[in-house]
Amino acid sequence: MRAIQAIAFGGPEVLVPTEVPDPVAGPGQVVVDVAVADTLFVETQIRRGGAGKYFTVTPPYVPGGAVAGRVRAVGAGADPGWIGRQVATRTIDFGGYAEQALAAVEALIRAPEGLDLQVAAALLHDGTTAFGLVEAADIRPTEWVLVTGAGGGLGVLLVQLAHAAGARVIGAARGTRKLDLLAGLGADAVVDYSEPSWPECVRAATGGAGVDVVFDGVGGEIGLAAFDLTAPGARFSAHGSPAGGFAVVDPVEAERRGVTVRGIEQVRFGPEDAKRLAERALTEAAAGRIKPVIGQTFPLERAADAHAAIEARAVTGKTLLLVSR
Ligand SMILES: NC(=O)c1ccc[n+]([C@@H]2O[C@H](COP(=O)([O-])OP(=O)(O)OC[C@H]3O[C@@H](n4cnc5c(N)ncnc54)[C@H](OP(=O)(O)O)[C@@H]3O)[C@@H](O)[C@H]2O)c1
Repeated sequence: MRAIQAIAFGGPEVLVPTEVPDPVAGPGQVVVDVAVADTLFVETQIRRGGAGKYFTVTPPYVPGGAVAGRVRAVGAGADPGWIGRQVATRTIDFGGYAEQALAAVEALIRAPEGLDLQVAAALLHDGTTAFGLVEAADIRPTEWVLVTGAGGGLGVLLVQLAHAAGARVIGAARGTRKLDLLAGLGADAVVDYSEPSWPECVRAATGGAGVDVVFDGVGGEIGLAAFDLTAPGARFSAHGSPAGGFAVVDPVEAERRGVTVRGIEQVRFGPEDAKRLAERALTEAAAGRIKPVIGQTFPLERAADAHAAIEARAVTGKTLLLVSR
């Protein structure tokens, strides 16, 4: 089958189209004919070899942790009734950037009737994470919620969910294209954090009070500046790292201000929670209550271009690979 292999750790050019043997479903596994493969920012970090603390993988490997498509075959102990069904699923040990991918039968989610497979693929990771973060943050109506990296795949969902929870939402991103998008998704205010004065703009938007919840999808200096904007009793999620690592918040200062800080560990869901949250995301999308922003798609062969665009900050919302011809 056709697949993309990372042949070494390095830049996007290490992602090379190739032929590999078809996967074979083991006990409790299925093979999915992939229609759409998800991409994630973290996959660019793994490809560079910089995420070894969290992901142990050695080249050559086929990247990709989530796909949508149709079940092609089942292994021993898996219900043959799955064959031919449209599903969205996490994959086993990556392998999603390919014509066929392996998944555990327990991880399969039936794509709701009428739901576009691109939407299903877009939500499998981002929707799971967004619903998990919003559950943990326990947002109350009229609270101020700041989302950084708000124009990314996860950020656009967090803006929508916080708005739906009745919060007043500040979307922070870079460039007018993303800011205009956020205004249309329910953000009450938008700020461009490439402007040095952005923290004052956020504080002014809250009337000086600061924000009650931060979903920091960017980290680095921006994440730290976002922490400084928290009001007493706030909840701060440090799950993002594109700007140079997860925001490292001083725990003494957080305690002094009564701010609850959660890190990346909060979104490392076990299989049951991951499935519950993903099913919820797909159901909400099918009902029209949330909508991923699929900003760009690439044919499978151009996975390297997709990674390059993500790293160049040239993408908006979700980036997907289209696999079946
Ligand atoms: N998606 C998930 O399910 C999930 C789960 C756990 C953790 N996370 C983490 O959450 C963060 C956001 O995830 P995402 O899926 O929304 O990613 P994404 O779609 O790639 O968005 C990341 C955003 O970060 C901003 N950014 C700031 N500095 C950047 C840089 N140097 N290079 C590239 N982008 C930069 C970009 O927006 P601007 O150009 O507007 O700044 C971009 O929109 C990532 O760190 C990811 O690993 C995501």
